[in-house]
Amino acid sequence: MAEHDAEVEGSHHADAKSAEVATWLEAVRSADDPAALQDLRVRLLGKKGEITQRLKALGGMAPDERRLVGEQWNRVKAALGAALDERKGELERRALAAQLAGERVDVTLPGTRPPQGGLHILTLVTNKLLEVFQNLGYEVVTGPELETDHYNFAALNFPPDHPARDTQDTFWTTDGRLLRTHTSPMQVRYMETHEPPFKVVVPGKVFRNEAQDATHEAQFHQLEALVVGERVTMADLRGAINEMAQALIGPGTRTRLQPTYFPFVEPGAEFAIWWTNPRSGREEWLELGGSGMVHPKVFEAVGYEGVTGFAFGFGIERLALVPYAIPDIRYMYQGDLRVLEQFRGVL
Ligand code: DAH
Repeated sequence: MAEHDAEVEGSHHADAKSAEVATWLEAVRSADDPAALQDLRVRLLGKKGEITQRLKALGGMAPDERRLVGEQWNRVKAALGAALDERKGELERRALAAQLAGERVDVTLPGTRPPQGGLHILTLVTNKLLEVFQNLGYEVVTGPELETDHYNFAALNFPPDHPARDTQDTFWTTDGRLLRTHTSPMQVRYMETHEPPFKVVVPGKVFRNEAQDATHEAQFHQLEALVVGERVTMADLRGAINEMAQALIGPGTRTRLQPTYFPFVEPGAEFAIWWTNPRSGREEWLELGGSGMVHPKVFEAVGYEGVTGFAFGFGIERLALVPYAIPDIRYMYQGDLRVLEQFRGVL
């Protein structure tokens, strides 16, 4: 730029025009936005612009003068062009700098922490139970929620029309299948495809067509255990339930078996755990579920001979509700964060 200035303004021939040229250059250098600058370019260098008109006027001059004056205007034209380009660059850099300043990110500001999720209380309790049984050498297996009468009832020694079926109000599908009412059908499915000895636990959802209230839901969860081998006894059942109780509640926790009837075990027993109820502060029996020695009819249904086994099953909700003094089972399924958040970090 300085070079062009010198040529134009310092030229002997620029004389009177130099003031006008200086005004133009000044206008270019102080143009404040791209649109104004573009207007100037048109006004000075455009088809009907100042310089173009000056050059057109050369036609009426004598050859010597035309050459001299022509050279002068061409130098002015070059100088203006350069000044316009330079100013354009300046304005662009300025706009970019302003944009970058506006978009600056302060990486030293404290971050915004996304709300942290957590596992559902039922998942926590289930995981804890599975961990206890895996430590005792049990394998974890799962089965279908949509079952047949055969696996849910018949193979578990519930004969057709037997009153024991009435204890498990069942959701039937229109094609004669059902939503499993317990996890026990997986006992049969597992034995059909495996050879003893084995120890398995089956966590899963089960369904009952029941009126709902604070302690009953149409859908809940169970954990089933099945152990089969050559000399598995009732003492082993007792031991497994004791191990579970101690792992869940603490060393020395007492358990109780009371005789009862389930079609697929003989003898059959309800089992309970002695514990301190956190709501009342009282020590009492927590009734958990059913158990027993696998009925010979069940082994017959899967073609097993010369083995014995025990099984037990219980509702997982109960183990989650009672210890944490949750007053209504329906809170478990409402997805209310005020309820769910209380169990973050427990277990
Ligand atoms: N399936 C039974 C129920 O839902 C509970 C049960 C009882 C499971 C005895 C067992 C068992 O494995 O041996 O009521």
